[in-house]
Amino acid sequence: MKFARRTDWELTDNPLSLALKQRREQGLPVFDLTESNPTRAGIEYPPDLFLGAFNNKESLLYAPEPAGLLKARQAVAAYLNAAQARRQAGANTSPLAGTTQPDAIMPGNLTLTASTSEAYSFLFRLLADPGDRILLPAPSYPLFSYLADINDVEPVYYNLRFDGKRWAMDLDSIEQAARLGKVKAVVLVSPNNPTGSSISLDELKQLNALCTRYAMAIISDEVFSDYLFAGAREQYVSLAANSPVLSFALGGLSKALALPQMKLGWIAANGPADILSTALARLEVITDTFLSVNTPVQHACIEWLPQAALIQDQIMARITANLEALRAWAPRSGFELYPVAGGWYAVLKADLPLPEDEWAVELLHTTGVYVHPGFYFDFASEGYVVLSLLPLPETFRLGLNALIK
Ligand SMILES: Cc1ncc(COP(=O)(O)O)c(C=O)c1O
Repeated sequence: MKFARRTDWELTDNPLSLALKQRREQGLPVFDLTESNPTRAGIEYPPDLFLGAFNNKESLLYAPEPAGLLKARQAVAAYLNAAQARRQAGANTSPLAGTTQPDAIMPGNLTLTASTSEAYSFLFRLLADPGDRILLPAPSYPLFSYLADINDVEPVYYNLRFDGKRWAMDLDSIEQAARLGKVKAVVLVSPNNPTGSSISLDELKQLNALCTRYAMAIISDEVFSDYLFAGAREQYVSLAANSPVLSFALGGLSKALALPQMKLGWIAANGPADILSTALARLEVITDTFLSVNTPVQHACIEWLPQAALIQDQIMARITANLEALRAWAPRSGFELYPVAGGWYAVLKADLPLPEDEWAVELLHTTGVYVHPGFYFDFASEGYVVLSLLPLPETFRLGLNALIK
């Protein structure tokens, strides 16, 4: 059988995941500093709320709406507008001045999907023909190359560079790539996984100019926007309110409520009116073809989203405590810790005695500490290490102590 070339992936375990599997099979201790599955990180989900919401007779009726049930979209719109208002509280000036009002997310601009990953796929299908290009940030989230393969688009990477204070977008590298032609969209992850950095208002203005010049849309992955530290929170710019360019802001329950298993994501679209309405109409044909979002979760999210603070407060407390421990640890560790402005991750750098991948395997063998080497996230050079801030504090502390040895 000859399979499609787009599925010619390396299917064997890499040496690090193999070493992890073996260690676990042997019953040896593992200090997992990569754990980013919130349902395994000791977060309390009140069962009355999270399971009780499924006891709803309306879920026995199948009456699908391609963009998602209106009531569910209303709940998501209310949630996003409230989140934006909360972030802005305390800001001197609205970072969105000059664009549409921050509370302007309307249910009609929302499309529900089964996950953010599915949202990417639908948007790549909407925007790109086979062989077209999508611009992706590096370093960033490792799923992109698969999403690009599956959707027959060519990934082209632009750089995020640490400028001494923050990971800034290299807009020159975006323009260079745009000049290649056939670039249909620029993807941002804001806050980014793993650097925690978000697009600034100044970067957005320049990006809007580039996107207008080269007819590119913007896809902004905002799944971590509920997890911003003070300072970054007030400055945060959501692309849900970006009207000058066709823009899609992605989010979902996997991070907003730390419930990846519930499979609900959303796309908040914005842009010049005529382009926006055509985009929404075409997107609706794609979602209508799959109708992939299940009805029970759409009803349940109406009860869950107003209670999001129950989960987000626990996660903020966890990542804040682990970040404090990391900050105290870093000066005596030999690692440089990059500033963390948001998200669930921290980035470290050091002159490692071995190439990153070999070093991570060696570290696991000798200390039981499991970390992600930077190349998983396409850092431009060697020596980066990525930690999750979500592990239980005791595991995190023990892991850091072992890492220092
Ligand atoms: C930046 C980013 N986007 C999207 C996702 C996936 O979200 P979903 O579970 O909604 O597909 C993740 C998962 O870790 C992520 O880190």
